[in-house]
Amino acid sequence: MPKLTFLKTGQTYDVPAGTSFLDFCQENDAPHDFGCTVGSCGTCVLVIEQGEKNVNPITDDERETVEMCTGVKGARLGCQLKVLGDLAVRPV
Ligand code: FES
Repeated sequence: MPKLTFLKTGQTYDVPAGTSFLDFCQENDAPHDFGCTVGSCGTCVLVIEQGEKNVNPITDDERETVEMCTGVKGARLGCQLKVLGDLAVRPV
C-alpha cells in the first residue's frame, strides 16, 4: 500500500492506491489545509518532494490555479491529487 508522508509534521500514513488526497486528509484529519476543495482557491497548494510521478497528471485548469498562487515549479493542488504510489509532500 502506498505511503503518504507529510514532511511538515513527519507523519506517514498507508493509503490505498487511487485514493483522493483530499478525501484521505479530510477523513483522517491529516495535516494539510484546504479551502474550496474544487481547484480554484489555491489554499491546498503543495510540492511533492518525493514521488512526483505517483499522482495523476496535472490538468490545464489545475495548472492555471497553481500558476496564479505560486511560482514554485512542480507545485500541485492537494484537492486535485490522487495517490497512486509513495509520496512525500510539503505545503508551498
Ligand atoms: S482547496 Fe481550493 S484549490 Fe484546492
